Amino acid sequence: MADGSAHDRKAFYITTPIYYVNAQPHIGHAYTTLACDVMARFKRLDGFDVYFLSGTDEHGQKVQKSAESAGVEPQAFCDRVAETFRTMITDINATPDDFIRTTEPRHVAGAQALWQAIARNGDNIYVDKYAGWYSVRDEAFFGEDELTVDENGRRTGPSGAEVEWVEEPSYFFRLSEWTEPLLAFYAENPDFIQPPGRRNEVVRFVEGGLRDLSISRTTFNWGVPVPGDESHIMYVWLDALANYVTALGYPNTEADLYRRFWPADVHVVGKDILRFHAVYWPAFLMAAGLPVPHRVFAHGHLLNKGEKMSKSLGNVIAPADIAGKYGLDAIRYFFLREVPFGSDGAFSHDTIVNRINGDLANDIGNLAQRVLSMIAKNCDGAVPAPGDLNSADQALLDASGVRLVEKVRADIDAMAFHRALESIWAVVGDANRYVDDQAPWKLRKEDPARMATVLYTLAETVRRLAILIQPIMPNAMATMLDQLAVPEDRRQLAEIGPSDTMLAPGTPLPKPTGVFPRFVESEQ
Ligand code: MSP
Repeated sequence: MADGSAHDRKAFYITTPIYYVNAQPHIGHAYTTLACDVMARFKRLDGFDVYFLSGTDEHGQKVQKSAESAGVEPQAFCDRVAETFRTMITDINATPDDFIRTTEPRHVAGAQALWQAIARNGDNIYVDKYAGWYSVRDEAFFGEDELTVDENGRRTGPSGAEVEWVEEPSYFFRLSEWTEPLLAFYAENPDFIQPPGRRNEVVRFVEGGLRDLSISRTTFNWGVPVPGDESHIMYVWLDALANYVTALGYPNTEADLYRRFWPADVHVVGKDILRFHAVYWPAFLMAAGLPVPHRVFAHGHLLNKGEKMSKSLGNVIAPADIAGKYGLDAIRYFFLREVPFGSDGAFSHDTIVNRINGDLANDIGNLAQRVLSMIAKNCDGAVPAPGDLNSADQALLDASGVRLVEKVRADIDAMAFHRALESIWAVVGDANRYVDDQAPWKLRKEDPARMATVLYTLAETVRRLAILIQPIMPNAMATMLDQLAVPEDRRQLAEIGPSDTMLAPGTPLPKPTGVFPRFVESEQ
């Protein structure tokens, strides 16, 4: 693009859904943010100016009710829970550039301005009476045709949450008028909703015709007041979605962050909240005359041993607990490797341990450990000087060079993290086979010069692999790069490929230590 837009300047804006403060953080929550973090770190490594946003969604009837039952003021309740999400983000070593809370004045003012912008353009907002079904748990309205009624007359929405009949004065957004513009937008931007299966679902839903949307409530007051009519508060989803622009300084569209980063490159969301992001949000933005994001990516849900996690099932796992048990980097790796991003994914103790002992301890861990300890023992603890490279050396360096970077970049851009990791681990496998074939331990006596070439080729390969794996396992790869004495400012993706970026022979190396221990079951 040559229009000075975000892409042109290698800017990248990625958002994670802002968390409802009515729950305790679990690994399902962590998963969304973890994927965003890997993407954000990868883009930074690739020289992009990145803005990664996280935060908390603090208004709505559900929060007001939870605060009441906890016997505290809603703001105090939000303060406490928001902190637990902030901590979770640190616990998984995620690196958002900002953490926005919807109760912050900067957000409240921005959300009201967005309402006004929508109202100002055409007759997008009108006042009427809402009479219909509402699910407090989902904070969503449902049509009769979307409900299931059980034998006791109990009605539930698609998520299984009970709905209640709501009748109150309400402002409406004329969503019905946006059916055609949205369909035209999806047609012109076929990559807007990903993965493609989800796109088809959304398009079919919109093709069915959209009903106007109730966007204010009057029966409770924990929310952003509707500008000019304080007896109403804004529908929590309109309020929450606005965070993506208020965090950039909206309504000041001249603000530095807004100019650099809007429209967003990708909103990453769970499949349960895709409709809000792929239908309502672009409609609100178009109505307000604002640019629409480039992409919404819906991921699947993590299932504990195949089951949905919930407080009532008692199978909710806290991110800090699982990281404490298996190691933080191992968990980051596991979730992105095991579950194709976009699909639901089951996990269990056994699947985690298999990955730790296989992919991490046996494959990459063993490779680095073998190479570094042979260098420590046989090359005076310094990067050996290679002689002429033969075709086997050259093949490994080709496989771990620019070609691999390009493949991984394309996969990460497509949010296909598992495929990126598969490609990287294919080279880890090549390198381990090369060690076995070349048997450098035998060369020590027979042909020390050849041994130096083999160990150099391997050390250089490990350097490249470690650079590429940094976004997934930042701590372990920092250790691996330290062991190769790679300076911190030489760990960018651009350092893979050009010959002058390769390891300098003679560089002294620290004493190697294992990076990925095997997981040993503790005796019960
Ligand atoms: N507050 C809204 C988002 C507003 S964005 C403008 C919300 N919050 S949430 O806390 O309920 O969920 C946050 C994210 O966690 C969602 O993307 C949701 O899909 C995700 N997950 C919650 N449980 C999950 C799993 N078990 N597995 C994977 N992700 C799931 O929705």
